[in-house]
Amino acid sequence: MNIRQLLDEKLTQGLHQLGVPATISALVKPSTRVEFGDFQANGVMAAAKQLKTNPRELASRLLEAVDLSPYADKVEVAGPGFINIHLKDDYLVSQAQTLLTNTVPSTTVAKQKIVIDYSSPNLAKEMHVGHLRSTIIGDAIARVLEYLGHEVIRQNHVGDWGTQFGMLIAHMKELQSSGAELSMELADLENFYRAAKVRFDSEPAFNELARNYVVRLQSGDAECLALWQQFIEISLSHSEELYERLGVGLKREHVMAESAYNPQLPKVVEYLTERGLLGESDGAKTVFLEGFKNKEGEPLPIIVQKADGGYLYATTDLASIWYRSEVLHADRVLYLVDARQSLHFQQMFALARQAGFARPEMSLEHMPFGTMLGSDGKPFKTRSGDTIKLADLLDEAEERALVIVKEKSMDLSAEEQQQVAKTVGIGAVKYSDLAKNRLSDYVFDWDTMLSLQGNTAPYLQYSYARSRSILRKADHIDANATLLITEPAERALAVRILQFNDVLENVGREGLPNYLCQYLYELAGNIMSFYEACPILKEGVNPAVRQSRLLWAQLGSDTIRTGLSLLGIQVLERM
Ligand code: ARG
Repeated sequence: MNIRQLLDEKLTQGLHQLGVPATISALVKPSTRVEFGDFQANGVMAAAKQLKTNPRELASRLLEAVDLSPYADKVEVAGPGFINIHLKDDYLVSQAQTLLTNTVPSTTVAKQKIVIDYSSPNLAKEMHVGHLRSTIIGDAIARVLEYLGHEVIRQNHVGDWGTQFGMLIAHMKELQSSGAELSMELADLENFYRAAKVRFDSEPAFNELARNYVVRLQSGDAECLALWQQFIEISLSHSEELYERLGVGLKREHVMAESAYNPQLPKVVEYLTERGLLGESDGAKTVFLEGFKNKEGEPLPIIVQKADGGYLYATTDLASIWYRSEVLHADRVLYLVDARQSLHFQQMFALARQAGFARPEMSLEHMPFGTMLGSDGKPFKTRSGDTIKLADLLDEAEERALVIVKEKSMDLSAEEQQQVAKTVGIGAVKYSDLAKNRLSDYVFDWDTMLSLQGNTAPYLQYSYARSRSILRKADHIDANATLLITEPAERALAVRILQFNDVLENVGREGLPNYLCQYLYELAGNIMSFYEACPILKEGVNPAVRQSRLLWAQLGSDTIRTGLSLLGIQVLERM
C-alpha cells in the first residue's frame, strides 16, 4: 500500500467510526501547495454535510480519533474543513529505503484480467498516422496495468475481412494471370490499394468481380482464401516492422483479427433473433435500441446482417464482446479507438448488455482519443494532401533528431550519434502524444517534441543521462547506505518518488498516460533542484551525506527509467 492509500484508509475508517455513511471517503490527495503539507484530505466537508454538522468540528474530532503520529509530525485542520498532513522525515526515509531493495510495486488494487483492444489497423492499406495514437497509448496502458500486477491480454483487432478485400483479390488475380510477380506488386501496399480502388470505382465489370470475390472469400473458397492469406501476411509483417521500430510489444500472437470471429457471426444473428431483438428494414437484419436517435430524432439502427447476407463491423464487435466475456472471462475490456467511433461503441455496449453477450460484472470501456492535427490545426496530411505513412514519419523523426544530436553530443562517435538519434526521435514522437490528454485533438509539432526543454522525451532522457553520468563518476556506491534528508530539495524528491505507484494506479484506472508524463516531468524538476542544492561529488561533502545523495540520485533516475519504460520509451546512458 502506498502512503496516500494508507492515509486515506486510516482517515476513511475514522470517518466511518464517527458515523459517516460508508459511501463517503476521506479523499486524500497529494497537496496542491507546499504550505498545505504533503497530503490533504478533502472528504470531510461532504461527510459533515451528511451528518449535518460543522465540517471543521468534524475534522477535529476525526483527528482525535485517528492516530497519524507514526507517519506525520503535523496534522492540521485548514480552511472550511480540509486536513493538511505533513509527513515525518523519518517515515519518508524508511519508505524510500524499502524502495532500494524492493522493486515489486506494492498495490492494494485487486488483480484483474484486462483485455486491451488497440492498434487494430485495417490491413487493406499501409498503416498511417491515424493508427499511431491507438498503438502508442494502448501500449503504454497495457504496460502500466501489467506492471501493477494485472493479467493483460493484448488484442490487435485488425480489419482483414471487409468488402475491400474482394477488390484486392480481384486485382491480385488479374495481375497474376497477366504474368506479374505478385510479391513485387505487393511491396508497396499503398500503391496496390490505390490501383485496385481506381479500377473498382471506374470499371463496372471489375466492380462486379470484386463483389463476387468477397462473397466467395467469406464462404470459404480455397483459391480466394489463399490469395487473401498472401495479402494479409504481407500487410501484417509490414505492421510488425513498424511495431518493432516503435518499440511496441505487439506480436503475431496478439492478433485477433475480424476474420477470427467469422464462424461466430451466424450465431450472433441467431441469438439476437431468439431474444426478439432483431427487426428487418429493407431486407437487412437490424436492431433498434431504445435511446439511440440520429440528428433528425429518428431511431438509429444497428445493422447486423445486410440483405445480401453479408455481416458488418458491428456483428464482429458483438462476437468479440461475447468471446472476451465468455471465453476469456475478462473483468475489464478497454477499447483504444478514435473518438469518432464513440456512438458505435455506445451502441455495441448497450446491445451486448441487453442481449447477454457481456457478463454484467465485465466492464466495457471505450477510451477514445482525438485527431492528430498538423500545426495549421487541420488533420495531419502531407503537402499534397495524402495521409502520412507511419514509416515516413518515423524516418523524419530520426533524421531531425540526428541534426540535434550532432550538434549537442559532439563527443559521441558517429555510430553512437545514430543510435541516440533513433532513441530520441522515436521517443519524442511517442512521448508528445502520450503527454497530452488523449481526449483532445493533438497538434503534431516537430520543434516542440524534440526540444530539450519542457515536458518532452528528450528532456527526460537528458535528465536520466545526467544522473547516470554522476553515478558513473562516483568511485563507490554503497547500496546499503542510510538515506538522509538534510535539505528541503532532498525531501521534495523523496515525497515525489514515493508518489510513483499512486500515479500508475490512476493511469491504469482512467487509461490516461498523460498523468505519468506530468509526474515524470515534475520528478525531473525535483531531481534538477536536488542537484542544484545538494552537492554530491564535490570535495568536502560528508561521506555519509555523499552516499545518501548518491542513493537519492539513483532512486530518482531509476524512477525516470521505469516510468519511461512503462510509456514504451527507452533511456540512454549517455547523450
Ligand atoms: N479497424 C478499425 C479501424 O481502423 C478499428 C478497430 C477497433 N476495434 C474494435 N473492436 N472495433 O477503424
